[in-house]
Amino acid sequence: MAAQVLVMIEEYVQEGISTFELDKNCHNFIIKNGAKPSSLNYHGFPKSICTSINETVCHGIPTKKVKLQNGDIVNIDVTVLKNGFHGDCSRMYTVGSISPQAKKLIMVAEEAMYKGIEQATPESRLGDIGYAIQNYTEGNGFSVVRDFIGHGIGREFHEDPSVHHVGQKNTGVRLKTGMTFTIEPMINEGVYDVDVLKDGWTVVTKDRKLSAQFEHTILITEAGHEILTMLPGQTRFFS
Ligand code: MF3
Ligand code: CO
Ligand code: CO
Repeated sequence: MAAQVLVMIEEYVQEGISTFELDKNCHNFIIKNGAKPSSLNYHGFPKSICTSINETVCHGIPTKKVKLQNGDIVNIDVTVLKNGFHGDCSRMYTVGSISPQAKKLIMVAEEAMYKGIEQATPESRLGDIGYAIQNYTEGNGFSVVRDFIGHGIGREFHEDPSVHHVGQKNTGVRLKTGMTFTIEPMINEGVYDVDVLKDGWTVVTKDRKLSAQFEHTILITEAGHEILTMLPGQTRFFS
């Protein structure tokens, strides 16, 4: 359901649309499909999705005041509650023509998420996931945000364990069949440090350079993992 929202909204992500309208479309689609937007009123968050543009790392609040502009890169993060369980995913979209550096950042962010997902097997530990993401990202000259992390997910939106996107091999919680958690690295063009704006939600890069993020909800299986927020036949978006 969450993945379907990311597909549905794609055609609306165009120059001139406000993030308020993107939120309204997603909200209506989620309700129409018998689900609830998990983010709405979550610890006071006022909207149903997060829209994070350019230097915004995560938790951007949809508003009538912000309209998408040519060259913007934007993350839409959707979490829904359906049949008692939450699903959480996000992806980047591009508006008009973006810079080569922005394109590279998006491609590295998506690949970094998959480097982490590859490590999600019953033989691994959480540190293996963090290590794979950090090693790939830093090898490409970008940085991994430390202050926001992936999380267990299920009957609650955010559960144990914390899923750090940096780490050391062979450390941390051992993965087991049946575990469900997100992998959602935030990758910065410059420094990994962030600021939280006065609205209490919007997280931006300290140097105001670009940031990109992708997120999937993962199930650990005997064979390795299943990506629960991947639709049948779906492939990567950029890399
Ligand atoms: N979907 C975000 C995550 O990946 C959390 C958003 S919480 C909100 O964990 F309140 F900002 F919506
Ligand atoms: Co999440
Ligand atoms: Co999310």
